[in-house]
Amino acid sequence: MTFLFFQMGNTRWAVASGNHTAVTHFFFEPFSDVLEVQVALFFLVLLMYLTTMWGNLLIITISVIDPALHSPMYFFLRNLSFLEIAYTSSTIPKFLVNSFAKDKGISFVGCAMQMYFFGLLGVTECCLLTAMAYDRYVAICHPLRYTTMISHTVCLQLSGVCWFLGVLVNVWQTTFIFTLPFCGPNMINHFFCDLLPVLKLACVDTFRNEIYIYIVAVVFVMVPFLLILVSYAWILHTNFSIPSAEGRRKTFSTCFSHLLVVTLFYVPGMVTYLIPKSIHSHNSNKFLSLFYSVMSPMMNPLIYSLRNKEVKQALRRLISRKRSF
Ligand SMILES: *[C@@H]1O[C@H](CO)[C@@H](O)[C@H](O)[C@H]1NC(C)=O
Repeated sequence: MTFLFFQMGNTRWAVASGNHTAVTHFFFEPFSDVLEVQVALFFLVLLMYLTTMWGNLLIITISVIDPALHSPMYFFLRNLSFLEIAYTSSTIPKFLVNSFAKDKGISFVGCAMQMYFFGLLGVTECCLLTAMAYDRYVAICHPLRYTTMISHTVCLQLSGVCWFLGVLVNVWQTTFIFTLPFCGPNMINHFFCDLLPVLKLACVDTFRNEIYIYIVAVVFVMVPFLLILVSYAWILHTNFSIPSAEGRRKTFSTCFSHLLVVTLFYVPGMVTYLIPKSIHSHNSNKFLSLFYSVMSPMMNPLIYSLRNKEVKQALRRLISRKRSF
């Protein structure tokens, strides 16, 4: 990390001493020039952010204190909730503060850090959601082997690999982008420092970087999404052999809600990073990114757990414990 920033500092000085001035600040273009729209969006995003924080903190709390939730599924869920708090916090507070600030800007290093953390947490989330789908696949399709296949060590290893990949890919990606020369304009047509809108401002040919982004998006967004679809297809396949209609209906509704939230996260991500820029505008990207940056982290706690009987019971226990104090 320190190395990365020193590197970028050096590059900036190198560029500044050349014949064009280097960008030291970026500015975000607002979603709209209409004040009412800005105010409405501010409150909407604020509300979504607070809901995300509250929901994910609640999941972390009950999964730590309730012994009934000390299983692999809740280990992953807790890890996901922790991740989502960090993920939304890497972009949304800055957006909210900037909404009413005069200059709506971010420093060069701040922008690099934002891109790094957003990317790191995004890649980790893609990977973690896949691990969670795998966990459900083993639980439903191989229930007898579940405890040996998904042990506590395996859980730690799977999530550890996800975090490691997130760090690795993004140290590389962010360094690659922020060592390019930026010599203006410095107006980002987005509400945070996302890869493509920033890359667009570099004053050299960025074809190679675009190819890298494309490869990362295929490997870390598209492939996980397909793996998730495959594991849910197996789950549904197994589900049809469950004798009780009630059991079938329950598994089906759980799978369906998981798939919905997973789709809300991956599909806008794929459209943004995989469909060539010429087909859709950066403006539509800006709106699409609201899905994967705020909407999905807000929905995850609701769908993964509040619809879930075990979590509801744990919540009841938590509330009655509070009352008895
Ligand atoms: C998430 O997983 C990583 C890697 O296994 C672990 O180090 C970290 O403590 C976990 N975080 C939470 C909140 O469970």
